[in-house]
Amino acid sequence: MRNFTFYNPTRIHFGEGQIAKLARDVPEGARVLVTHGGGSIFQNGVWQQVEQALAGHPVTRFGGIEPNPQFDTLVKATELARAERCDFIIAVGGGSVIDGSKFIAAAACHEGDPLELLTGRRIAAALPLGCVLTLAATGSESNPHGVVTHVARQEKLSFSSALLYPRFAILDPRTTFSLPPRQIGNGVVDAFVHTLEQYLTYPADAPLQDRYAEGLLQTLIEEGPKALADPEDYRVRANLMWCATQALNGLLGCGVPQDWSTHMIGHELTALYHIDHAQTLALVLPALLAERRQAKREKLLQYALRVWGLKEGEEDDRIDGAIRATRDFFKRMGVPTRLSEHGLDADVIPRVLAQLERHGMTALGERHDLDLAASERILLKAL
Ligand code: NZQ
Ligand code: ZN
Repeated sequence: MRNFTFYNPTRIHFGEGQIAKLARDVPEGARVLVTHGGGSIFQNGVWQQVEQALAGHPVTRFGGIEPNPQFDTLVKATELARAERCDFIIAVGGGSVIDGSKFIAAAACHEGDPLELLTGRRIAAALPLGCVLTLAATGSESNPHGVVTHVARQEKLSFSSALLYPRFAILDPRTTFSLPPRQIGNGVVDAFVHTLEQYLTYPADAPLQDRYAEGLLQTLIEEGPKALADPEDYRVRANLMWCATQALNGLLGCGVPQDWSTHMIGHELTALYHIDHAQTLALVLPALLAERRQAKREKLLQYALRVWGLKEGEEDDRIDGAIRATRDFFKRMGVPTRLSEHGLDADVIPRVLAQLERHGMTALGERHDLDLAASERILLKAL
């Protein structure tokens, strides 16, 4: 196992009715900026619970943070936070609202151009942030990362700082009952791929991390389709919500090699063609596993055996079986796995490759050997 430092300070309040705990973790006298997306929180009763819980605090509200949160919108929110002298942010929504709020938290404390925070400048200070999660997917509720879209530059820009771990996250599975099927599928696929990107690399003498990942994958496979079949099954939603948080709260990746090339290629597809984040992953991952079958051979065989129960036949057949099962699972979650299903063809490939090159994504993967030629073969396999 490799050396590592594990740090995760986010306090999680999990379960039904936990939104009422909101005020407990907000310091007395704090001036709160509540951020949200396009309005789902007004239709599913979440806003009413948040408003009630924050009754003792001066609250400023900023809505309209888009899926794939946009830089320009977040700059407006930052100006509002400054004008209202807000000193605590509460994000209410999915990964986009939480990521966007992490950016606002940093930008509110930054004197220069806020774009610097997305182009390599170290984040030196940030307002404290808490969140109420309404979509189980990204893990943003208990990690230090964010991704912001810059529309004019056609870029999804990532940032990260230990200062951006939410102080607390409220995970009430009931808030996810109102998700449309597309977002249920997206959430399960995103958590599944987060797990795979930290697991499906090469053996690293880390049997605990392996079994932890396999447990998450099997739980997502078992519970995901049930959420589509019965959206109001609390037990199912609770298990999915807890899986998604743990898939990207840092624990799984301790001491092991990580890949993340599916995410990097996927981000370019979102920036260029506005495909939902998780849907890009479902396009890239099966193609990437086929392309990387030699580099990932040992772990692919372990994945085939332990996650999909494939123990008969030749090794190559078992690897093919595992890739097929992965693709079928994404389809069962209602998520397409081919570019053609999004109306895209081989014309997209040079554009995606040019973006990858522009962003320095020319040596991806756990061994930094996934070059542009390999990305091209992956995209061809995803047509
Ligand atoms: O905007 P509203 O009206 O709230 O509607 C949202 C949005 O349209 C809706 N929604 C959320 N909760 C709902 C609901 N609708 C009904 N009932 C509810 N309870 O769902 C839509 C999508 O929301 P969004 O927040 O965009 O989805 P997700 O959580 O999948 O977040 C995706 C973003 O997270 C980034 C992605 O790149 C993308 O920008 N990621 C962040 C990561 C991180 N911070 O660690 C890691 C991920 O790999 C990912 O890159
Ligand atoms: Zn993701």
